[in-house]
Order: sequence, then structure tokens, then C-alpha cells
Amino acid sequence: MHRTVSLVLAGVLVCVSSTVASAQQGGKPELTAEQWQQVDALLGEMTLREKAGQMVQLTLGAISSQLKNATDEHVLDVDKARAMVAESGIGSILNAADVAMPPEQWREIVTTLQEIAVEESAHGIPLIYGVDSVHGANYILGATIFPQNLTLAATWNTDLAHAMGRVTADETRAVGIPWNFAPVADVKRHPAWSRVFETLGEDPYLAGELAVAQIRGMQEPDGPDSLVLAATAKHFVGYSEPRTGRDRTPASIAHQDLEDIFVLPFRMAVDAGVRSIMVNSGEVNGVPVHANPVLLTDLLRDDLGFEGVVVTDWEDIGKLVNFHGAAADEREATRLAVEAGIDITMAPFSVSFIDHVVDLVESGELSESRIDASARRIIALKFELGLFESPLPPAGEIERIGSPEAALASLETARQGIVLLENGEGTLPLASDGPILIAGPMADRLAPLHGSWTYSWQGTDEALYPKTPTILDAMRERFGADRISTDQADAGGASAIVLCIGEDPSTEQIGDITDLTLDDAQLELVRSFEDASAPVILVLVTNRPRVITPIADIADAVLWLGQPGPYGPEALAEIVAGDVNPSGHLPFSYPQFVNALVLYNHKPSEVSEVGGSPAGKYNPLYAFGHGLSYTTFEHSGLEAVRSGDTVRVSVEVSNTGSVDGDDVVQVYVSDPPNPVTPRVKRLVGFDRVSLAGGSSERVTVEIPLDRFQRADATGINTLYTGTYIIRVGELESAIELE
Ligand code: BGC
Repeated sequence: MHRTVSLVLAGVLVCVSSTVASAQQGGKPELTAEQWQQVDALLGEMTLREKAGQMVQLTLGAISSQLKNATDEHVLDVDKARAMVAESGIGSILNAADVAMPPEQWREIVTTLQEIAVEESAHGIPLIYGVDSVHGANYILGATIFPQNLTLAATWNTDLAHAMGRVTADETRAVGIPWNFAPVADVKRHPAWSRVFETLGEDPYLAGELAVAQIRGMQEPDGPDSLVLAATAKHFVGYSEPRTGRDRTPASIAHQDLEDIFVLPFRMAVDAGVRSIMVNSGEVNGVPVHANPVLLTDLLRDDLGFEGVVVTDWEDIGKLVNFHGAAADEREATRLAVEAGIDITMAPFSVSFIDHVVDLVESGELSESRIDASARRIIALKFELGLFESPLPPAGEIERIGSPEAALASLETARQGIVLLENGEGTLPLASDGPILIAGPMADRLAPLHGSWTYSWQGTDEALYPKTPTILDAMRERFGADRISTDQADAGGASAIVLCIGEDPSTEQIGDITDLTLDDAQLELVRSFEDASAPVILVLVTNRPRVITPIADIADAVLWLGQPGPYGPEALAEIVAGDVNPSGHLPFSYPQFVNALVLYNHKPSEVSEVGGSPAGKYNPLYAFGHGLSYTTFEHSGLEAVRSGDTVRVSVEVSNTGSVDGDDVVQVYVSDPPNPVTPRVKRLVGFDRVSLAGGSSERVTVEIPLDRFQRADATGINTLYTGTYIIRVGELESAIELE
């Protein structure tokens, strides 16, 4: 029933003993008693300075030769590397210097650095190299690129999230990198935020399930030749609802929302054994998270039970001084961040942290045991990742990068992640074999389909991209070049007009915008087809939901792609042709208005009947969970039964059309009234089912009772008593919890 993508990844038997990780809760490395003794023996031999060194992570650019042009080939500066790795004794390096590199070059770099660390540093402790492989190994040329997380989330398919994690682990570890700064566990809230595409959507439970599947895919071997990574859930916590909508600006979050919306996916990730956590660069409720022991220690360590490694985000100790105004100088910022709970500073250019820590411990402002705790976690993770036994990239593994099976997993994710939002009068699939006009700025480009974190940080440099098909190429391939025109003057004779609109890739502060509405030039382009006799099909390629309300009425059909990756165009052409039945469902509310910040799981008082204006309603252009198909599904016979600690929800799903298709059964609950006010509804379970045309199936979703908990006004998870209404589509069923 549950669609599974079976992935057999190419590759010979692994020569490295990369043994992360089982689903141990809390993310503590699983070492034998003897290995823990080795960790402690090593720690016992280390000086304070050496332990502080383990806590420093530098970017590759800090030890690279100065490039004349960004496009010049990267050259490691071995003298600088020696100074930092052997003499200063740093414990970690991250990322590409600027742009993606071929696997061979990665392996050379990692090999040189590990040789320096093992042969020339004080105790021969290997480095732990970390990278942002956030949608596939996007900094390794030739690796498999996947859709961005938001498109993945539209599949509502944990098997695909797992497959993405697995491929990412195999292809990243193949070059010797054992640590990934993924998945993003931030829940999309503010629609204008520049990192919406990096999230797994608006619902914390859906995001949590998909993040956990990615983590398991990365961390847990699924066969003797699997390579594994330590995953990082980021950015803890409350990053995604900046009040201004701009990146890294302050958030004000009530205790209840913090727990129910923002913490939940991290809690799920920690329970699944995620090995590291990256901290939110912003400020929450008046304190930058990097300086907040309540969030980083009381909540993360004591409440969530996290025992793995906490890494700062980029330069965030320095930013406590020069960005937040939280500390007078870097020494003070170092004390604040270490006391708050960080283990590794993503410095990323300087080793001044080491001097500060030594000075702070010697002056009695920081305890040495606090430094020991961090160094122990870092060294234990290195042990668990097999770096002490095999610090070098595993031999003979380049072959496994970019396999056809992995490409298929990416293609399948794009197919299931594309959402058919509108399909007036059965516009799609295209029935006629007449000419097709294709226009719009996204039609013949690669970067917007891939998004940021593709071969470079912002992903905008198409010169770095392999020549995969654009939408135009894929449509020509599927429908025949002679049927496709790009000349807008041909609109009169066209049988369909496909307009590919959206935005260029961008992320973080570079991606901040002042207006969520699609730009005027693109609105005008669509308006110019207002009187066309052929149906207008909008194809949306966006980082975040750009408002299209002024032109929505012109469209006969609308397809949302988000950033579907290199196989998005092929998947789109298959859907337009009817070879693939669309099955994606929006993992966010698509706003109708720029100011509409009400999300699907809002409080009752966020909407109002007063005045009857749409402004007072949950009134998205397309609601959370919406997605059409070429067939029709009906739900009937909803039953919800509590048995012990489980609520079993079952519903009859019928494919009432003649075409085979997938439905996503979405189970919501509306909580009983309480002075700690509930949300109107929230997702508590889901399942994707494949049904042949005309067939039916009873689908059962098991929901553990603790998923019905929600935070009280102080943020403590509570199971309130009363009548809970279980909802699937229009159906309702009540259960009593005493
Ligand atoms: C981003 C992180 C990323 C880090 C390292 C930061 O700017 O916020 O998501 O992991 O850079 O590249």
C-alpha cells in the first residue's frame, strides 16, 4: 500500500568502518565500553588548549590559496592548513571554498587534511569534515541532486525522504566527508522568509516525520556496503518566524507555540538519534539563541535529552558582538555561547576562540569540565564515525556517485512532489495534439529549478550546472520539437499556453524581499494572454509562495513545482502529457494576499466573522494539504477507536475515476475547548495510498496517544481531557480522552 522506492545503490564493499548509527535516542554516539575508555584516556592526555582546539571549525576558504577569480580551480594552501590543523589543533573543517568540486578533488583535499591531522597534530586526532549536502551532495560535481525540501515535503512520502537521505550519505561519504548539516527541521511560518524552500513545510508533525526519515536514511546503513553520515537537525530553534519576514531578524514566540510548532520536529529528530544540532542565528524572545542557556541547555539537553554535538551557525559567536549587540567583545561572546551550550564554533576564519577559552578557564570564568564535556562529545563522534580507524576517504567509492538508481529516486520525488493546484475543465492532461506555446523566464533556465545550495551557496551560477534538460527541453522531448513554439506571436494558433513563472534562487539575507507578489514583468506576461483562446497553464517555480492573485483568474490550470531539481522538467512533461498522474499536496498555505499570515493550524480567534472581509479568514489561494489528481477520490466510513495508547483511525478510500492514482489520507484533530486555547485543527497522521481506477481500500493510520498532547501556556506537553474530533476531508469522528 505504502509506495516504496527500492534503491539499490552501486558500489563495492566499503573499506571504511563507518559505523554510525542506530536509532539510539538522544544522539549519543554508540561506542563500546572499551571505546569510551579510549575516548576518556585520550581526553586525559589533552591540554586545555588542545581540547578547545577540537571545538573550532574553520571553513575551507580559510586554508585555501587566494583565487584570482571565483571560477579558478581551488588550491589548498598546505602551509595555512598545517598552521591551523597541526599547530592550532582545530578539530573540524567545513564546506567548499566557494563552489562545488569534482569528487577526486574533494578526496585529495580531505586526504591531505587528514594526513596533516593524524600525522602532525598533537595526538593525531582526525578532523571531522562537515558540509551542506542539503538536497543531495550539492557541493560534489556529478552527485545526484534532489528537489529542495519543500518539494520533497509535497510528496508526503517518508520513503522518498529516506531515499534522499540514503543517497546523500552514500555520495557525500564517498569523498571522505562524514558529517552533514541537514536536515532543516525549521517549520515554514512566515511566507516571505528567504528559506521557506529549505523547510519541510508548515506543519510541525509532517516536517518532523520527513526530517526523521532523512536522518535515518543518512545515519543508518541499509546494507553491508552502505556509507553513513552524522546528520544535523538545524536551526535550533525558532528561526523560521522572524517578525519582519527577513532572515535572522528577531522572533517573539509564545511558550506554547515554541513547543507545539518549533520544537516538535527537533524533539522527533533527537528521539530518532540525530547526532548533531545546529543553532539558530537569530534572536528569540529577546535573547540570541547562541547565548541562551534556557534553549540550548535546559530545553535541548535536559528536556529533549540531546547528547550529541551542538554546532553554532556561521560566525555566530562573532555575531553576538557585531550583529546582535549581545556582548562587548569576542571573549565575552565566547563565554556566553559556551555557557549556553555550544560544542563547536563554526568560526569560520579565525582560531581566536582557543585563546579566549584558555583565558576564560584560567581566570575561573568558565570551568574546564564544561570544555571537557564538549571535547568528549566531539571525540566520541569521531570515534563512532570510524575516523580514528579510517580517517581517509574510503577507497574506490567514487563510482557510487551519481548512479542511475539515485537519479530515479530524485525523478520520483519530483513526480510525487509536483502539485496540481487548479485544473479548470480538465485542462490537463493535454488532450489535443496541437501546437504548444511555452514562455516565461523559468522556461529555459536551470538555476531556478534547483534553488540555492546547488554548486554554490546561492545556486545562481548556471555555468557550474551540468547540462540537464530545462522545462523547454523536456517538453520538446516529450511532445516533439515541431509542436513547441517559444514565439509569443504564435499564441493564436496554440492549443495550450504554458507559462513558466517564479523567481531566481536565493537564500538567507540575500534572499530577503520587500514584496511577496510576483514581479510586475511576470504579471504582465501572464496578462498578455488574458484573451487567448487556448488554455493558459501556469507553472510555478519559486523559493516561497509568491502571490499570484492578480493573475490567478487568467489561468485554466496551475502546477506548483517549487524547486524540483534536475528531473523536475521531465516529471512536469510526464504530468502535462498524462503519463504520470499528479499526486503532490501543498505542505504550506499558498497565500492569497501579501498580508495573509494566518496558517492552516491557526487559533480560533485568528479568524473573524466581523465585517465579512476575506482579510479576517483563513483564506489562502490554495489551502495546506490541497492537491488535485487526474482521478477523483472519495472518503467514507471514518472510524476512530482508542485502544490503549493508540488511536486507530481508519477510512475507506475509493478511486472513483478510471485512472490509477495516489491519494494522501490526511488525519487532523480538533482539540477540546480549553483556556489554553487549541488550534482549529492540526495534522496527527497521514498515509499515501496507490489505488487503481475504480478500486477501494480501507486505510488505517495508527496514532500514538502522546501525539494528542500539546503544550500548556508554559510550554509543558499535556494531554488534555475531553472530546477530540478526528477529521479526514469532510468526515468527522469523535473520541473521548478521559
Ligand atoms: C547557514 C547554515 C549552513 C551554514 C554552513 C549558514 O549561513 O545558515 O544553514 O549550514 O551556513 O554553510
